[in-house]
Amino acid sequence: MLADDDEWMPPVTHTLTREECGDCHMAFQPGFLPARSWNRMMGTLSDHFGDDASIGIEKANAIRAYLTANAGDVDRRGAARGYMRWITPDGVPQRITENPAFVREHDFRPSVWQRHDVVTKSNCLSCHKGADRGYYEDD
Ligand code: HEC
Ligand code: HEC
Repeated sequence: MLADDDEWMPPVTHTLTREECGDCHMAFQPGFLPARSWNRMMGTLSDHFGDDASIGIEKANAIRAYLTANAGDVDRRGAARGYMRWITPDGVPQRITENPAFVREHDFRPSVWQRHDVVTKSNCLSCHKGADRGYYEDD
């Protein structure tokens, strides 16, 4: 089935990014954040949401290049357009889950987020079985 534009995000095609950024959570698609956000994130991996996610400089540079070249303000396909609408010209958001486009589609009761199969908003795969392939249909 073909997903709606808003229900699809170009998937991560870069193997190194899939591996290194898919260790603790799903490797999020670059289209959810603008290039400057990925740039900042890749420069602050030793303090990554309270975790140390640092990797070697060569790997980090390759991942940075991939994420920024495919960022939501560069490749505007799929849901990227809807997410980029909310980002101010000087905004450098680090979370996908704080974007109003996300918040609006995920206005669930707290008990939903506390379900032990969900635990955190960033656990996209718990609700979207095709999330790592870029599919976010309502399922
Ligand atoms: C050592 C574990 C670890 C690794 C490796 C890691 N992360 Fe994370 N990441 C986390 C944690 C913990 C959070 C916060 C999760 C939460 O609050 O639900 C997070 C959150 C994120 C978020 C924000 C999710 C949201 O809430 O919108 C993004 C984007 C992100 N990581 C990108 C990356 C990228 C890019 C890489 C690869 C360079 C990476 N992560 C590697 C642990 C990791
Ligand atoms: C607790 C379950 C849950 C989690 C966790 C979750 N989602 Fe969703 N998401 C949904 C549901 C349900 C909808 C459909 C909402 C609707 O149709 O009103 C949705 C809708 C979406 C849409 C919009 C599709 C459309 O119809 O326009 C996108 C994009 C999306 N989610 C991305 C994500 C991403 C990225 C993550 C992780 C960072 C995530 N979701 C985490 C349940 C979840």
